[in-house]
Amino acid sequence: MIIAVDGPAASGKGTLAKRLAAHFNVPHLDTGLLYRAVGVAAHRQNADLTDGVMIAEIAEDLDLSALDHPILRAAEAGELASKVASLPEVRKALLDMQRAFANQPTGAVLDGRDIGTVIAPHADVKFFVVANPEVRANRRHLELTHIPYETILDDIKARDERDSGRSNAPLKAADDAHVLETSSMNADEVFATALQIIARSTKA
Ligand code: DC
Repeated sequence: MIIAVDGPAASGKGTLAKRLAAHFNVPHLDTGLLYRAVGVAAHRQNADLTDGVMIAEIAEDLDLSALDHPILRAAEAGELASKVASLPEVRKALLDMQRAFANQPTGAVLDGRDIGTVIAPHADVKFFVVANPEVRANRRHLELTHIPYETILDDIKARDERDSGRSNAPLKAADDAHVLETSSMNADEVFATALQIIARSTKA
């Protein structure tokens, strides 16, 4: 079974994807980490963040074993990721490995922005997790307490705009995605709702 979980920054898609993967005992890929790693590596090399060809080379050389580095969780990494993610060459460089991950025999859960639309349009179940920007900023603020709430909210709004506005694989719900509006739900409720939808969809 392939489960696609898409949605904007800090929507709770990562938490849901992780819990679904553990529940079904299948591998999970947080695809945002790939873009974060590319953005951070490009920044370290002082690369021009608009040079698609050069940044795609960095993406091709990515060390996939270093994706759990805490630096990738920082707000700056998210901002860098959103910039390099708008380059078509970079998206192309990361496409095959994401598709291979999705199509492995065990099944998989992937979360990101374009899983249901581009990476795994054939996924068995697709979720599009949304929540209003203020709720998302609040949730992020609980994790990153050293950053002011207003800064986080501005960052979320800027990323929403960049991720939705790009022409290549924009943030968008697949036509057959189940939209989960989680503004007034906690993580347990989101998980329980998703499980019900999966049970219904895979029975049919
Ligand atoms: O999910 P995240 O906040 O870790 O993602 C960081 C950035 O990476 C996000 O702003 C847009 C980009 N991204 C993307 O374009 N496509 C994906 N599948 C995942 C992330």
